[in-house]
Amino acid sequence: MCATLEKYVINGGNVLDGEVSISGAKNAAVAIIPAVILCDEPCRIENIPNISDVSLIGRILQEMGAEVKRIDKSTLYINPTKINSCSATSDLVRGMRASYYLLGALLGRCHQAKVCLPGGCNFGARPIDLHLKGFAALGARHELVNGAIIDVKSDGKLQGNHIYLDFASVGATINIMLAAVKAEGQTVIENAAKEPHIVDLANFLNSMGAQIRGAGTDTIKIRGVDFLHGVTYSIIPDQIEAGTYMCAAAATRGRVLVNNVTPKHLESITAKLREIGCEIKEFDEAVLVDATVRPLNRCNIKTMPHPGFPTDCQPQFATLLCTVDGTSIINESVWDNRYQYVSELTLMGAHISVEGRLAIIEGGSKLTAAPVKATDLRAGAAMVIAGLCADGVTEISSIQYIERGYENIIEKLNALGADIKKVYYDHTTDSSLRA
Ligand code: EPU
Repeated sequence: MCATLEKYVINGGNVLDGEVSISGAKNAAVAIIPAVILCDEPCRIENIPNISDVSLIGRILQEMGAEVKRIDKSTLYINPTKINSCSATSDLVRGMRASYYLLGALLGRCHQAKVCLPGGCNFGARPIDLHLKGFAALGARHELVNGAIIDVKSDGKLQGNHIYLDFASVGATINIMLAAVKAEGQTVIENAAKEPHIVDLANFLNSMGAQIRGAGTDTIKIRGVDFLHGVTYSIIPDQIEAGTYMCAAAATRGRVLVNNVTPKHLESITAKLREIGCEIKEFDEAVLVDATVRPLNRCNIKTMPHPGFPTDCQPQFATLLCTVDGTSIINESVWDNRYQYVSELTLMGAHISVEGRLAIIEGGSKLTAAPVKATDLRAGAAMVIAGLCADGVTEISSIQYIERGYENIIEKLNALGADIKKVYYDHTTDSSLRA
């Protein structure tokens, strides 16, 4: 049987130099698209990244009866008025993490939601107890059907309430916001997540007539409204895609102008790049990363909820730290198992030991090409950066993870001077690859 898969082939050693334009934020798009379910009229969403997670959530909305059309490369038209179901239980739903936003959105729209347990990247337990606790506080009870489908419902309208989150969970904050937008009275979320895409979602909902205050702070207040009108809204630039190109520029000792970004969202990454010796210049909507000025040195990193250093940039920064002299220590405080890429980097000659939430990187040894795999989205981005730095030709398999979140990564990197291509192979005959 012929089984064709895709892989990236990188001829390493080129220094990145030039300009790259960042796409719309994946994690904002995958929240804002389901949020349209709450709207009483059609919407146009601009600056949508062309990535597989976005196509998937669009198809899920279509399955529910919404009209979803791509008007141009980065604009989606969504008409939610024809949605005729409050369940999302197809295989598509299982294919992505953010499908859990359908719970909050459908609950807000029809006071009931039946949604498959979400899939997505695997880095340890990914519970949704805080989401469910929030729904319960608003008056919705839930049950797990056949161990696979979450059924949440309320008797009539949800009732606003005061909710304290034990952890500033991005997903729980978003889901509770979605459920509360049309609830009766006021909902207050304490210890809310403050990530840029939380603010983007609140701005989107407010532009439709929602009444949300405090997004971007620890306390979000939502006063329920009855009607949301259609809007045209443009999604923020992707903080993590930008951070990935910033790390890639530094790792190859290059000089790259990263365009279409919000520099404020990048401050924690910028601070760490400056600490290791990069020159960073900030413009209104761009940052210049220059790693040609002096030798780079080690640093320590602790991942934290925003405005701390983002966990989604941890694997990429760790790869950069493999290329500099000295011992760096990473403390991953958000996820309990986000070091699956370490064994792949080790195959390329990196010296990293993992002890619980810490990774100790002995930097400075030259990375060498090897067949590696993307174990998840950001781990895949880390493999790409490693391949760009390595001597020889690196082949990366399981690239479907990378394409969940990086638009045109091949074109963008090659325009900066990289030598990377996508090739198709038959995994039943190509034994060099680790599919
Ligand atoms: N947590 C709980 N209970 C919950 C929810 C979360 O214990 O009900 C814990 C998690 O186990 C984890 C921590 O809280 O240890 C953070 O989880 P959070 O809910 O903040 O993460 P998420 O909403 O599932 C989003 C992003 C992730 C990103 C995290 C943290 C989306 C679709 N996903 O996930 O992005 O790592 O926030 O910033 O927005 C990625 O883009 O590669 C990615 C994985």
